[in-house]
Amino acid sequence: MTEQTPILIQQFQLKDLDQVIEINRECLPENYPERFFRTIYSELPSAFIVAKIGEQVIGYTMARVETGLSHYSIFHRGKKGHTVSIAVKPEYRRKGIAKMLLKRSIEAMVEHGVNELFLEVRVSNDAAVNLYKNFGYEILKEIRNYYRDYESAYLMAKKVPKDKLI
Ligand SMILES: CC(C)(COP(=O)(O)OP(=O)(O)OC[C@H]1O[C@@H](n2cnc3c(N)ncnc32)[C@H](O)[C@@H]1OP(=O)(O)O)[C@@H](O)C(=O)NCCC(=O)NCCS
Repeated sequence: MTEQTPILIQQFQLKDLDQVIEINRECLPENYPERFFRTIYSELPSAFIVAKIGEQVIGYTMARVETGLSHYSIFHRGKKGHTVSIAVKPEYRRKGIAKMLLKRSIEAMVEHGVNELFLEVRVSNDAAVNLYKNFGYEILKEIRNYYRDYESAYLMAKKVPKDKLI
């Protein structure tokens, strides 16, 4: 990648699906059947974002909106923006691509009226934990044995300021 290579940050399209699935399998142990990607996309297309160079997908993030108890107070219910997955191909990392993906996806969730944002991340995943801290997410708790290999997860979350709600 040269300095001039334009990286496009745009909403996922179904023609990107095979490449997104490939990146997910290459980069993460949490893999999903094709229909899961399609469902996430159909529920909130504006929060499923890809990074592309031409027609090549080099990273993606997908998210959904869930309604339920707040992670901050069991006395409150509301809309929560859940980042389900994010990955950037190894050769394109540390160039700010995940930051651009997450920013677009968060903006879409906020536009959708979420009160808070949250996600789960492996406790050993320093890169991702730092990325989320950069966006103001904080570690709320550790969920023991969350993953299939029994690694624990951090539940990280961030409140959306009321003036950002639509
Ligand atoms: C986590 C991941 C998506 C980051 O993608 P990226 O495009 O390299 O991230 P960015 O370049 O946008 O970095 C944003 C911030 O994340 C943090 N970060 C990213 N990579 C890091 C690393 N290797 N070590 C420590 N912090 C890191 C930094 O705070 C960075 O900000 P800075 O560059 O200003 O210091 C990427 O490493 C990846 O795909 N990992 C495998 C999949 C994965 O673990 N996904 C997360 C599952 S919860």
